[in-house]
Amino acid sequence: MAYIVSLTKLMTIFLILICFPSMLLSQSFRSLQLPPNATGPESIAFESGPITGRFYVGVADGRILQYNGPRDGFRDFGFTGPNRSKRVCDGTTGLGPICGRPLGLAFHYSSNKLYICDRYLGLMVLGSAGKQATQVSAAADGQPCKAVDVHQLTGNVLFTDFGFLRDPRNASNALNTNDSKGRLLMYEPSTDRVTVLMKNLSGPAGVAVSQDGTYALVSNFISNNTIRFWLRGPRANTYDSINFQERPDDIKRTVLGDFWRAAATVKQQTQSLVPVGQRMNGFGRVYRTVNFEPWYENQLISEVQEFGGELYVGSRFTTFVGVYRF
Ligand SMILES: *[C@@H]1O[C@H](CO)[C@@H](O)[C@H](O)[C@H]1NC(C)=O
Ligand SMILES: *[C@@H]1O[C@H](CO)[C@@H](O)[C@H](O)[C@H]1NC(C)=O
Ligand SMILES: *[C@@H]1O[C@H](CO)[C@@H](O)[C@H](O)[C@H]1NC(C)=O
Ligand SMILES: *[C@@H]1O[C@H](CO)[C@@H](O)[C@H](O)[C@H]1NC(C)=O
Ligand SMILES: *[C@@H]1O[C@H](CO)[C@@H](O)[C@H](O)[C@H]1NC(C)=O
Ligand SMILES: *[C@@H]1O[C@H](CO)[C@@H](O)[C@H](O)[C@H]1NC(C)=O
Repeated sequence: MAYIVSLTKLMTIFLILICFPSMLLSQSFRSLQLPPNATGPESIAFESGPITGRFYVGVADGRILQYNGPRDGFRDFGFTGPNRSKRVCDGTTGLGPICGRPLGLAFHYSSNKLYICDRYLGLMVLGSAGKQATQVSAAADGQPCKAVDVHQLTGNVLFTDFGFLRDPRNASNALNTNDSKGRLLMYEPSTDRVTVLMKNLSGPAGVAVSQDGTYALVSNFISNNTIRFWLRGPRANTYDSINFQERPDDIKRTVLGDFWRAAATVKQQTQSLVPVGQRMNGFGRVYRTVNFEPWYENQLISEVQEFGGELYVGSRFTTFVGVYRF
């Protein structure tokens, strides 16, 4: 009897979803709207622990915004440009180094530091008081960076330098010229030193350190591959290609030690790109692919990050942070 009742219930839910697919959409996806004129929430960093749910995003006009829940929304937290003026920069999309452009974000929980990869200003760091970020040491010749991750135990910071963005004036050529001047670097706060771990990368758009710090995954946006670079152990300083998904962007570790990566699949008929998030392990095996086309159409997403049973989605093309319940 109980079985029949639950079956009937299931049928009812099924019928409702068939008749009102928008219910399905609104139930599984919502968007957190940025303040007026702010665009391009490229990456997201949560504060430590699952308690607050407070997070930070970097937007195109150079601000780092803090999200304080549905009631309070986003507020200004910090910025990267040393000469930034709110009057000149707020609401713009890319006035260069004057306004700054935070691309990657990552927290080091125990020191409560927010590391920021700025497209023009290199690796920077911001304390809990926010405001003006400071450049981290010489940040490997002061070159700009794209993605950042922190090994929580050592506090070491891995970041990438997305080759062609060094000269923003010809960034648009970059994809066509198959640039391969990207690098993977490491900043050690204990010695204040930056070392280059890998060179000749083709658009390293994402980096994530493994839970135990033995390797880092790096995604190459231009050459369409994801590699595993060994940081320790017998294979230290070597790498293997683990996955060939198209247009791989940022990679974020989950609390269980696997990863979510933003990427794209190619539609057979039109050859257009479909934005997807993929859950994968450290061997590059994909367990799950979430298709974000219903909400992003053919605009690429840059990051997918799991928090509290939901996926937070960054994109340089939107005016919102997407939240997908799965
Ligand atoms: C947004 O941009 C429009 C057009 O540039 C401008 O009129 C408006 O004041 C801006 N709003 C805010 C809140 O900056
Ligand atoms: C900021 O202003 C100072 C003084 O005018 C100048 O030397 C420096 O280059 C500027 N920095 C940036 C990133 O615009
Ligand atoms: C990029 O721009 C710089 C300065 O305008 C120029 O010297 C360089 O040749 C350009 N590189 C490419 C690949 O177009
Ligand atoms: C870049 O790589 C793609 C794929 O291998 C190739 O089709 C294209 O010709 C390359 N472009 C240049 C300028 O080398
Ligand atoms: C790596 O890049 C450097 C500088 O661009 C170049 O001289 C070198 O030949 C490249 N190495 C490989 C293996 O492609
Ligand atoms: C990477 O994938 C994109 C999308 O399919 C394709 O247009 C591009 O040519 C690929 N690049 C290379 C170097 O294979």
